[in-house]
Amino acid sequence: MHNIPIITLDGPSGSGKGTISKLIAKHLNWHLLDSGALYRLVALVAEQHRINLTNGAAIAAVAVHLDVQFNTLDDTVQIVLEGEDVTLAISSEQCAMNASRIATHVLVRKALKARQRAFAKSPGLVADGRDMGTVIFPHAHLKIFLTASAEERANRRYKQLKNNSINASLPDVLADIKQRDERDLSRSIAPLKPAQDATLLDCTGMSISEVFAQLRSLIKIQDFKTQG
Ligand code: DC
Repeated sequence: MHNIPIITLDGPSGSGKGTISKLIAKHLNWHLLDSGALYRLVALVAEQHRINLTNGAAIAAVAVHLDVQFNTLDDTVQIVLEGEDVTLAISSEQCAMNASRIATHVLVRKALKARQRAFAKSPGLVADGRDMGTVIFPHAHLKIFLTASAEERANRRYKQLKNNSINASLPDVLADIKQRDERDLSRSIAPLKPAQDATLLDCTGMSISEVFAQLRSLIKIQDFKTQG
């Protein structure tokens, strides 16, 4: 795995890392790991099977047996769970909140580790999450920690939900983001934090194209291109 070039993008919900990761992966023609989607999928299946979200062992079993496919279509990724397209189902705030809850279980994180590492394939991987640079790919060639103010992240998330025709109110989205930040930051296992060797970028007030431009120069994409 160590000879596969890897870029990690970690950060809180709504920091734009998902969009930026997609742009970088597309630009480099590399694979993409949306690790948050894995946690959301596990949360969705746990809910469908009426498993208590505090039951780490039962949820870890779901994580081990997850039958999922990520299909890259032009600018989007379609997520297929046991033959059913669940891309929209896992984008809800409820699913995100449940994902944050089940992500606190050590057994669940352990169960998803190998699955996440298996995404590291030639010519390279862009990995998006909370612990990509700290736990899953500590040897990544470049680690970025993207953040923005909670208000700005809530605004972006609110617009995203509206675009997907999902009902939401801005104050609720802000409250959810703060609650999720708190849980992701304070959990004892793999908490959300920048790796020691990560580059921090606060993108409050920046557009996606400004962030992308900054990262492009930062990550010296041309260097990676020649490695790929
Ligand atoms: O990135 P996201 O919003 O789709 O992630 C949903 C939740 O999943 C997030 O609140 C915490 C959890 N998660 C995690 O614990 N570790 C990751 N690498 C990715 C997501």
